[in-house]
Amino acid sequence: MKHLLSIADLEKEELFEILKLAEKLKEERYKGVVTDYLKNKSLAMIFELPSTRTRVSFEVAMTDLGGHALYLGWDELQLGRGEPIKDTARVLSRYVHAVMMRVRDHSTVEEFAKYSTVPVINGLSNLEHPCQVIADLLTIYEYRGDFKDVTLAWVGDGNNVCNSMILAAALTGMKMIVSTPENYDPNPEIVKKAKEMGGKLQFVRDPKEAVKEADVIYTDVWTSMGQEAEKEARMAAFQPYQVSDELLKLSKDDVVVMHCMPAHRGEEITDEVIEGKHSIIFDQAENRLHAQKAILLKLLGKENEVY
Ligand code: CP
Ligand code: NVA
Repeated sequence: MKHLLSIADLEKEELFEILKLAEKLKEERYKGVVTDYLKNKSLAMIFELPSTRTRVSFEVAMTDLGGHALYLGWDELQLGRGEPIKDTARVLSRYVHAVMMRVRDHSTVEEFAKYSTVPVINGLSNLEHPCQVIADLLTIYEYRGDFKDVTLAWVGDGNNVCNSMILAAALTGMKMIVSTPENYDPNPEIVKKAKEMGGKLQFVRDPKEAVKEADVIYTDVWTSMGQEAEKEARMAAFQPYQVSDELLKLSKDDVVVMHCMPAHRGEEITDEVIEGKHSIIFDQAENRLHAQKAILLKLLGKENEVY
């Protein structure tokens, strides 16, 4: 039994299998094929923080696959009244076939996974957002055809999505240039791990330099969920890192712009860039659905039934 708490939980072959599966499931949905590979299976979805994409894509994924998803808000569970995570994990394991959870602190999903006897999926923690990045890889593959000749410039905060992308770049052979202000670098242990994995990782403080050779520019909010108290300091530190038309002019003509959303227009990205010809963010958001299905099938050992 396997959990997906970090991109590093996947071997390279497993990651590519998930991407291939996602491609196939996307095709099947477009053709209107009935894909009830998870008939009679249930997924519990625990949310300690809000969500649009993760919640809806996982729920629709389960419906499309013939299964059922339960939305469980943290405060509506006994967890909100202090029931221990280890008890909740063991009880839910008796009812459902997998658990997806979005938590403030990564240690919460780790603790849950330790006691769960069914697969646990990290639907975002302060440390990583692996499901997001799997959908992002599918999108990059669709637009760029491969990973090994692709350079992704990360512009902005060295946050949870950035951490997962660093590991994903190392697994796929993609080059990643990280451009963050001082004091907002990605997690050092993740950087170390990616380097040990042979990741082609570069750090460039100046975003104007960082985007020059980029095939993909990726940005995310300057203030992630749970960091609201730091908002003012962050707004000041990140100003030079806004993804704007001026910044895009310094990059390749065919560069694509990605954002995991929700986006804050006028902060990390301008309205013009979101609505402009380089933006692929809505295709990226759609791919969350296809990727979630592939993740679920892989973790539930159903991947071979798709072929
Ligand atoms: N990108 C992402 O995870 O979006 P939500 O917060 O809406 O789930
Ligand atoms: N880095 C953002 C991602 C939201 C999907 C956050 O953690 O709030």
